[in-house]
Amino acid sequence: MKLPTTDHYAVFGDPVAHSKSPRIHRAFAAQTGQMLDYSARQVSAEQFETSVQDFFAHGGKGINCTVPLKELAWRFATRKTARADAAKAVNTLALKADGSILGDNTDGIGLMTDLTVNHGIELSGRRILILGAGGACRGILEPIIGQRPQSVVIANRSPAKATELSLEFADTFNFDTCGFDGLAGLSFDLIINATSASLSGDLPPLPAGLLAENGDCYDLAYADQATAFVRWGQINNARHSLDGLGMLVEQAAEAYLLWRGIRPQTASLIALLNSERNFQAH
Ligand code: ATR
Repeated sequence: MKLPTTDHYAVFGDPVAHSKSPRIHRAFAAQTGQMLDYSARQVSAEQFETSVQDFFAHGGKGINCTVPLKELAWRFATRKTARADAAKAVNTLALKADGSILGDNTDGIGLMTDLTVNHGIELSGRRILILGAGGACRGILEPIIGQRPQSVVIANRSPAKATELSLEFADTFNFDTCGFDGLAGLSFDLIINATSASLSGDLPPLPAGLLAENGDCYDLAYADQATAFVRWGQINNARHSLDGLGMLVEQAAEAYLLWRGIRPQTASLIALLNSERNFQAH
């Protein structure tokens, strides 16, 4: 008789100590009755390649990659999904039966599921503003286009970077770009913060009236307190002012699906993680 074996998974990042991914994936494993273990491993960019090879050589089946490893993971993967290529970043590596390493990016679909399914926030026909033009912004552009918004503006501290990014997508969508001073007088139905500013308590300078009536705010970052951008949304009467906790759980569910062939339920876990914080995002 063949004894059941435990498959190994991990999140690699730097820093990684406070990652919620081990808890999320262990909860998914318990819920779906699957035997696996999932750990957090401190891996710097310099150690990335050897650490991945070592992990897969010793029974590892899948890896989530977080800051600052997503671009490296994209370069490393031997095969990639179309959405990983659009993002030029990989947050999920999977060892396939033929020995190849598949790179996927589940961040974009994680955001879409949290916005549209969990919170009923439509993107279709709406005027959308994205703050920031780095990797986090790039990763969500393709799924946003797929929802057929009326318009999308990308505003960045250095406007040239926003323009450069928009040109990469010129064949599929016409993004408008500007610096933060170019936002005066404009108004949006959904504002997504893809800058890393709010993690350090900072906020890009946003003019009054930027959020339309019944508009929504979403910060891709998350924290145990309301981020500076979530607070800005609350002060500016957002219908919803959310952070990225729901997106985190949803991207994990998609990674779990890729690895294990089953998509776990997410609602009760999101509610539990939310209830443990100093504020409830809604
Ligand atoms: P990366 O580009 O390394 O993948 P990212 O977190 O996606 O990382 O990108 C950081 C984004 O946050 C950038 O858009 C950056 O603006 P610049 O391109 O002008 O550097 C933005 N950002 C970081 N700190 C900021 C701040 N204090 N105010 C406004 N924007 C900030």
